[in-house]
Amino acid sequence: MRMNAITVAAGCAAVAACIGVGSAVAAGTDSQLERGRYIAMIGGCNDCHTANFFQSGGQVPENEWLKGDSLGWRGPWGTTFAPNLRLYMQKLSEDDWVKTARTLKTRPPMPWWALNAMSEADLRALHRFVRSLKEPGSSAPAYLPPDKAPAPPYMQLVLPPSKPGK
Ligand code: HEC
Repeated sequence: MRMNAITVAAGCAAVAACIGVGSAVAAGTDSQLERGRYIAMIGGCNDCHTANFFQSGGQVPENEWLKGDSLGWRGPWGTTFAPNLRLYMQKLSEDDWVKTARTLKTRPPMPWWALNAMSEADLRALHRFVRSLKEPGSSAPAYLPPDKAPAPPYMQLVLPPSKPGK
């Protein structure tokens, strides 16, 4: 019997093992990207690493996500800026990212403890998702020491005056 393309596809679809290979590869990639996107969103990474994200109630399209922000975070530690995670992930292999994230410690307000506690599968998914974001964007401003005033806009943490003897 001569099989045309349609009968081959139909015959193939009837055999679970036959479609299993091809679709598992495609679905595996898609679901990992989907998981990475989910982590960026619920892990709060966009809140600081995406310009205008919290100010707009999260109304920033995905093609602008995680490019870093020039909003300064000023406190006793100086002024920090959430870096561009697209550029950052480009420089790190997936394995190096998993290692780095496990031990990463930064100045405030980065919640590095959340990254330290993230599962390996979640870290890998996040890396893949960030790498899938195409346009790299530019670097965020560099850290400023406490005696250097940042240009606006910046957030300032004002602590209560320290109590004598404490
Ligand atoms: C509250 C704001 C905030 C949130 C939320 C946040 N970050 Fe950050 N992140 C920062 C800031 C600010 C820095 C820079 C810290 C410094 O200069 O020491 C930073 C630094 C980093 C670094 C280190 C980059 C380097 O050059 O060493 C990584 C990686 C990172 N963030 C990833 C993430 C990921 C992934 C998430 C989500 C799970 C996240 N951040 C959530 C503000 C934030």
